Amino acid sequence: MIQVLDKTFEVFITREEIQDEVSSLAKQINVDFQNEEVVFIAVLNGSFMFASDIMKSIDLDCEISFIKMSSYQGTESTGRVDELIGLNNNLKDKNVIILEDIIDTGITIDKIISLMDEQAPKSVKICSLLYKPDAFQGVHRPDYVGFSIPNAFVVGYGLDYNEKGRNLDAIYKIKN
Ligand code: IMP
Ligand code: MG
Repeated sequence: MIQVLDKTFEVFITREEIQDEVSSLAKQINVDFQNEEVVFIAVLNGSFMFASDIMKSIDLDCEISFIKMSSYQGTESTGRVDELIGLNNNLKDKNVIILEDIIDTGITIDKIISLMDEQAPKSVKICSLLYKPDAFQGVHRPDYVGFSIPNAFVVGYGLDYNEKGRNLDAIYKIKN
């Protein structure tokens, strides 16, 4: 068990389980986009570790760029989504794969996709390390999912609780 600020968390997905799953996601993407050019767009801050690890196993002709959006405070989604910053690549006619740490309600990813569609990419896929199907209320479900998890708050491997815990190399679940 670990303590992050005022909350206690327990190990939920180990470092080894994450690494295995991340490399199998990469293998699947390598197969699906064989002989294609891909622009990966990682959503900061949460996806920095996931993006870094998955990219090491991608063997495609590719680019990576980072965008930022904020819709979350504390342990509950505020439902408020700020504007997207950093999308300065030209995505017209490109295959885009969005790298997300987690898809919860789906509000953030829906907003990102609608902003991206304005640039008329050839295709847009979503690759999310974590997905909470029971919380999802959006339109665009992830095409690639590392782990489908119950509707509980998690930290680690890039994910934060009030900005803390991102440095942890495993994923921890809140202990009630
Ligand atoms: P959504 O818009 O509700 O899908 O929320 C997406 C964003 O909320 C993610 O990119 C995370 O930053 C944050 N988030 C959702 N669930 C969790 C969680 O369990 N732990 C930490 N952050 C979370
Ligand atoms: Mg995020």
